[in-house]
Amino acid sequence: MRFDVLTLFPEMFPGYLGQSLLRRAIDAGLVQVRLHNIRDWAVGPHAAVDDRPFGGGPGMVLKAEPVVEAVEAVQSAQQTPGHLVMLTPQGRRLDQPGVEVLAEKSHLIMLCGRYEGFDERVRKILEPDEISVGDYVLNGGEVGAMVLIDTCVRLVPGVLGDVESSQNDSFSGSNRHRIECSQYTRPRSYRGLEVPEILLSGNHEEIARWRAQESLDRTRRKRADLIEREDEINKNFG
Ligand SMILES: C[S@@+](CC[C@H](N)C(=O)[O-])C[C@H]1O[C@@H](n2cnc3c(N)ncnc32)[C@H](O)[C@@H]1O
Repeated sequence: MRFDVLTLFPEMFPGYLGQSLLRRAIDAGLVQVRLHNIRDWAVGPHAAVDDRPFGGGPGMVLKAEPVVEAVEAVQSAQQTPGHLVMLTPQGRRLDQPGVEVLAEKSHLIMLCGRYEGFDERVRKILEPDEISVGDYVLNGGEVGAMVLIDTCVRLVPGVLGDVESSQNDSFSGSNRHRIECSQYTRPRSYRGLEVPEILLSGNHEEIARWRAQESLDRTRRKRADLIEREDEINKNFG
């Protein structure tokens, strides 16, 4: 899977891309990430990428020309244009069904905003898929782009050692309207807290039953809304 990220701050990414699972996925050639600085498409004597809003008001707005031209250049450098995502708090909220749809695409181009956001003509011309990572306002789209890369990469075949592990995750596979059950590792006893006996029994059928029940109880306690929205969630997963 290929990701092209258009940003004013490409230097925010190498630390994140250079660690752990993502680094291994890149080294193995399963994932490619290319960074592009929108500033490279700025024109005029001051190479400005932002300007004051028409009509007045605080802050600066990202100019349409460098953003549109940067996206078009990245799109035309590939055989197919890729799926264009604009990170914006005004977009549809990202959830696991949404991630699953995006992870099926072979190429995502992600547009990260800054300041007060984009000149509206960027939306009108490029018609991006507008995605929000939550109902709050970030300083820029970069963290959102990292969220998208991180969530999609887990679903790229070969990235996770054990395919089953993503199927057991909260919101995923048979847990699509559940959160995952509690988990334990050694030691068996810690500060007077014991690992549930059933997990030590070696009886895989009983363990699976216990986990399913635990997951349901936990969901009822912590995220009852997932159970209430079961039909809607099933529909979103298609
Ligand atoms: C300070 S925000 C601008 C918010 C904009 N004035 C508004 O109210 O919609 C700057 C940039 O951060 C990114 N951003 C902020 N919150 C986000 C969110 N919840 N999801 C995705 N991107 C977000 C967007 O790229 C946005 O253009």
